[in-house]
Amino acid sequence: MTTQAESRAHNKIHWEALAPLWMAWWQRFGPATQPVSDWMVAHARLGPGTRVLDLATGVGEPALSFARALNGRGEVLGVDQSERMIEYAREQSMGLNHLQFEVQDLEQLNLHHHEPFDVIVSRWGLMFCSDVAEALRQARSCLKPDGILIGAVWGIPERVPMLNLASQALKQALDRELERLGPGPFSLSDPAWLQTQLTAGGFRLETIAPVDVVLHCESAQAYLSERAEMATSLAEALANLTPEERAKYNSALESAAQVWCPQSDSERLELVNQAICFVARQIPESLS
Ligand SMILES: C[S@@+](CC[C@H](N)C(=O)[O-])C[C@H]1O[C@@H](n2cnc3c(N)ncnc32)[C@H](O)[C@@H]1O
Repeated sequence: MTTQAESRAHNKIHWEALAPLWMAWWQRFGPATQPVSDWMVAHARLGPGTRVLDLATGVGEPALSFARALNGRGEVLGVDQSERMIEYAREQSMGLNHLQFEVQDLEQLNLHHHEPFDVIVSRWGLMFCSDVAEALRQARSCLKPDGILIGAVWGIPERVPMLNLASQALKQALDRELERLGPGPFSLSDPAWLQTQLTAGGFRLETIAPVDVVLHCESAQAYLSERAEMATSLAEALANLTPEERAKYNSALESAAQVWCPQSDSERLELVNQAICFVARQIPESLS
């Protein structure tokens, strides 16, 4: 069994190694996911002097969107555990004022050298924590008493074909599952569990809404090569298939992908992926 320490160490190594690919993938992923950042900005009620903290910012979202929206009238700090992600985020932030980035583990936050924040945001970050409630309690200690948390996680696997199609086909064709060390992208996709974790971390869920992230791919095979580049466990599983297994796999993938072909005469996929966006408010100390 994997311990929390092993899972955290693996999470850090995994994302550090993935950073250059993530940056290359950003050309497609960045624009496709902008509606999620826009939802977060729209629910933040920004004003002059608003201080925003972005946890697990990756190469800079939603910190960059908040900095643009504030346009120098407030402060934004983005943190991520990966040094390389933070380097890319700094490159992307050129020309934007009042936006900083720092390397920080959100399960061991050390932000006491900063003033408290009005808004904490996290887009697809919290779900990788080994102990989400503890990470939330740490985040809460960096918030002003009336501060809010705005987050985004992925919906259930069936609603996120971008991440799920390739492994769904492996299960269907060969009854195999990809191995994963520690929590993954779907660890907070059940809204009831998300709510439980928020409450345990000292937050009350106020608003929750689905937001679509739409990605286009030329074909199921084009989708697969892109996905296998980002997911080592998938690439390894595919490399170990016999020619017969691979043929079975390809056919399962093609039929699973059919659902996402809007035009029956074309191979082109339109993957509509569901993000779950939410706003949560702190439960007063006296009640928690
Ligand atoms: C799916 S990416 C999302 C990045 C960005 N927020 C976005 O929406 O594009 C997940 C990010 O979470 C970061 N992350 C995961 N666990 C973390 C932790 N414990 N502390 C800080 N960052 C973490 C990873 O390094 C990675 O950059």
